Amino acid sequence: MRVSIDPARCQGHGRCYDLAPDLFGEDEEGYAVLTDLTADRDVPADREGDARLAAANCPESAVLVHEE
Ligand code: F3S
Repeated sequence: MRVSIDPARCQGHGRCYDLAPDLFGEDEEGYAVLTDLTADRDVPADREGDARLAAANCPESAVLVHEE
């Protein structure tokens, strides 16, 4: 599994990095960014549940989960 953020959708609600702060971070304006744990690599198997939780809780559907 990989995750990404759709920057065109993200409005900075912050639920993703509140729920899974090791998977998602925020830029200086509060928009979501990937962390070292998720940028350009697979989500660790034991964190896939948190990735799905963050995706389910983003009101803009900006957290994208790519099942592989
Ligand atoms: Fe953005 Fe959604 Fe997170 S709007 S900050 S991706 S909860």
